[in-house]
Amino acid sequence: MTWPLPPFLWGVATSAYQIEGGSAGNDWADWERVPGMVRGGACAGEACGSWDRWERDLDRIIALGLNAYRFSLEWSRIEPEEGRFDEAALGRYREILAGCRDRSITPLVTLHHFTNPRWFLARGGWEERGNLALFERYARLAGERYGDLVDLWITVNEPEVYGFYAYDAGTFPPGVRDRARALRVIANLLEAHGLASQALRETDRADSDGDGHAVLAGAAKHWVLFEPRNRWSPADRVMAVAQHRVFNVAVARALTGGPIDLWIPGVPPVRRRVEALATASDFLGVNYYTRWQVGLGGSEAMTARPGAPVNDLGWEIYPEGLRIALRECARFRLPLLVTENGIADASDRWRSDFIRTSLTALDHARAAGADVRGYFHWSLMDNFEWHEGYAGRFGLYALDGAGPRGERPSARVYAGEVARRR
Ligand code: FCB
Repeated sequence: MTWPLPPFLWGVATSAYQIEGGSAGNDWADWERVPGMVRGGACAGEACGSWDRWERDLDRIIALGLNAYRFSLEWSRIEPEEGRFDEAALGRYREILAGCRDRSITPLVTLHHFTNPRWFLARGGWEERGNLALFERYARLAGERYGDLVDLWITVNEPEVYGFYAYDAGTFPPGVRDRARALRVIANLLEAHGLASQALRETDRADSDGDGHAVLAGAAKHWVLFEPRNRWSPADRVMAVAQHRVFNVAVARALTGGPIDLWIPGVPPVRRRVEALATASDFLGVNYYTRWQVGLGGSEAMTARPGAPVNDLGWEIYPEGLRIALRECARFRLPLLVTENGIADASDRWRSDFIRTSLTALDHARAAGADVRGYFHWSLMDNFEWHEGYAGRFGLYALDGAGPRGERPSARVYAGEVARRR
C-alpha cells in the first residue's frame, strides 16, 4: 500500500507500565517484587502518575510544539481476567485518545509493550502458539473501540528484545534462560504482529484524519549497530555478523513481508511462513539507541567501545549511528518511523547534543533517500526503566521536578530543533 504523505510526525514516546502507575495485574508487577530483579529493588509504583495525570502529559507535548504521541495500552488493565473486559479502563484510554485529537496530537498506539496480563503468562504466554488468538481478540477490541480516534498502530514493541531478555538473558519476566525458547517466543510475537494487524484492518474502518487510510500498522524494531570487539579477530567478526543477522535482519525481514527464519548457531532454527505477515506492515518502526561491541571473549556479551562516552546505563553515546540504522532499515522498502531514540542522562549534560546530532543524522538519512515519516523521542518523562528501575533517566522532563515544572533544558532544545524543521 502507498502511505500518503501526511505532515512529518514529531513526537515523544512512552509505554503504559513505565508511566501510568498503579498497575497490579501484569507480570512485571510480580517480577519487580522478587529481590534482585530490578536495580536498587525499585518498583514501578506510581511511576509518573500518568493514569490520572494524562492531561499534564498531553499539555507538555503541546508545550514542546509536537504533533504526535506514541504511547501504549496496558492489556492487563483492559482485560484483567481472561475474557473479562474492564469498561472503566477502556473508557480512560478513550478519554486520552480524544484528548490527543482535541489538541491536534496524532496518536500512535502500541498494543503490546513488554508487559503481559498475569493470566496470559499463566497460560504459557508467548511460548504457546495457541495463545496468539487471545492477543488477536484484544487487538480486535482495540480496533473496534478506538478505530475512530486512531489510524496509526504498533502491534508489538521490540519482539526481539522481549524474546531475548525474557527467555535468554532472563532479565525480564518470566526469567527463563533458554535460547531455543527465546527464538520460539520471537517467532510467535512476529506471527502475532501479522494476526493483530489483520484484526485491526478488519475492525478499524474509520479514517480519523481524512487521509484515506483507516489503519497504518507496523511494529517497533530495536535496531542495534553491532561491531566486533576486536576487528582483527575472525571469531569476533563472525559474532557481530551473526548477531546482526538474527537480531536485526531476520526480525525486520519477517516484519516487512518475508518469512520467519530465526537461526543462531547451536540452537534449532525456527522457520515459518505466516500468510498474515505478508501484508501486515505499512511501516517499520525503528528504535535506535546505541552501538555495541560483541565478541567471543570477555565476561559481558555486549560492551561499549573502550574510551567512548557512555550514558548513565553504560551505553555508548553514538547518535550519529541513527543515520546508519535508517540506511540499513530503508533496505526493507517500507516507510520508516523512528519510534524511539533517546539517552539516559539524569544530569542533562549530554542530551541536548544527542538530540541535535540525532536529528542531523535523521536529516542526512532522509536526504540520502530513506523514507522516514516521523521521529519520536524516548521519552517525554523519566520513567520506570524495567530492570534498571529508576536508574535510567530518559526524560525531557525529570521525574522529581528539576527546573520549572520538571522541564530539562534539553526539552527546549528538542522543541527548537523541531520548530526549525516543521
Ligand atoms: C527500549 C524500550 C523502552 C525503553 C527504552 C529505553 O528498548 O522499548 O521501553 O525501555 O528501550
